[in-house]
Amino acid sequence: MKVMLIGSGGREHCIAWKVMQNPEVKELYCVPGNGGMSSLGICYTLNTLQDMVQFAKEKEISLTLIGPEAPLAKGVVDLFKTEGLAIVGPNQNAARLESSKVYAKEFMKKYKIPTAQFEVFNRFDSVISYLKSGLNFPLVIKADGLAAGKGVFIVEDEEEARDVVVDLMVGKIFGDAGNQIIIEECLEGEEATIMFLFDGKSYCVLPSSQDHKRIGDSDVGPNTGGMGAYSPAPLITDQILKKIEISIIHPFIEGIQQEKLDYRGVVYLGLMITHHSEVHVLEFNVRLGDPETQVVLPRLKNDWLDLNMALYRSSLSEVKLEVDTQNLLGVVLTSRGYPGNYEIGKKINGLEDFPNEPQGKVLVFHAGTQRRDNQILTAGGRVLNVCAFGDTLKNAAYNAYLAVGKIGFENIYYRKDIGYRAFRREE
Ligand SMILES: Nc1ncnc2c1ncn2[C@@H]1O[C@H](COP(=O)(O)OP(=O)(O)O)[C@@H](O)[C@H]1O
Ligand SMILES: [Mg+2]
Repeated sequence: MKVMLIGSGGREHCIAWKVMQNPEVKELYCVPGNGGMSSLGICYTLNTLQDMVQFAKEKEISLTLIGPEAPLAKGVVDLFKTEGLAIVGPNQNAARLESSKVYAKEFMKKYKIPTAQFEVFNRFDSVISYLKSGLNFPLVIKADGLAAGKGVFIVEDEEEARDVVVDLMVGKIFGDAGNQIIIEECLEGEEATIMFLFDGKSYCVLPSSQDHKRIGDSDVGPNTGGMGAYSPAPLITDQILKKIEISIIHPFIEGIQQEKLDYRGVVYLGLMITHHSEVHVLEFNVRLGDPETQVVLPRLKNDWLDLNMALYRSSLSEVKLEVDTQNLLGVVLTSRGYPGNYEIGKKINGLEDFPNEPQGKVLVFHAGTQRRDNQILTAGGRVLNVCAFGDTLKNAAYNAYLAVGKIGFENIYYRKDIGYRAFRREE
């Protein structure tokens, strides 16, 4: 069997690692892949969706898996299906649940999925008069379209709100993504992630997780793509999970069916759990999260390719998930300067100690890395995910930081406190 995997981050390295544990897989093509994926499969750069279709035909790919949202939003699933090629993911229309926040909010409202109260605007003057209508701050302003995780702003007063709206709608800092904006209630609580597999009819909930978005310890400084994560999230008790299933997943599925959306793939719920244990959806993603995947997938005992085949064939009802009870925690190592400017091309030392055995207690997944000759060099802001198992999350963190200490590159930076919220709950 030949598999193609689109993407180049830590998430995709983890998917590739999991896919290669299936003995049926003879070849894995990573498009474009990274330094870590290059030891699992063959890395190719293909620039357009058409090129990917062509490649899948030439190489007789049995199944294509997608990491990031951009190809889904551009309609890669529609294109592959038209060409009779097997692929897993929502089609372009269904991917609007991520690519348009307005669409997602309206979907939630229609199907009574709990989410922050909101208003939608597509005219600058109407937002400005709304902002003058005696609102309670803080508020959250969101660009409608994809903005690489930079399109959400929490504003403290009218002036700050106005500046953001000017940037989005007049300055067009995210182009057409800011043609429509949402202004919503700012929810208080703790965030967590639930991802589930959905084949159009049945679903299977993956282990819970939490990530750390801010660059600095204790959650200060600018947002990043994610600085570390762990699974399970102790915040998500069985009782809260039940609530998520009943008040979010069930109406979500009803909505998909009512709207006749073609969705087979992973659904990511970005959740806010309030202090009264109420659950709200902050956002949907239509694919696996990064860095959550790197701590969720290795805990699954099921074969990832079998699960994806079940998604493709809509036979998920026959599947039972088996999850390792151990905790898994991952620390993201970055190039200093990230999420701003940073240097690349630094040699990474110490990787030879971590061969990523299928049953390994420490797993190192590459994100921004590149193989050159026999060396692995840094090639991005987020460079590596160092993940370790433990009987408790504290123990997992201890093991992960022990491994981090063995890896080095010039101007390395990472957070020292991954898991701190969960440790308080473990005590
Ligand atoms: N209504 C809200 N109340 C409080 N915080 C929010 C709200 N909406 C978003 N956020 C914060 O902003 C972050 C990014 O928002 P999100 O909707 O997940 O967009 P994206 O991931 O596309 O940037 C969330 O992880 C959360 O920290
Ligand atoms: Mg988010």
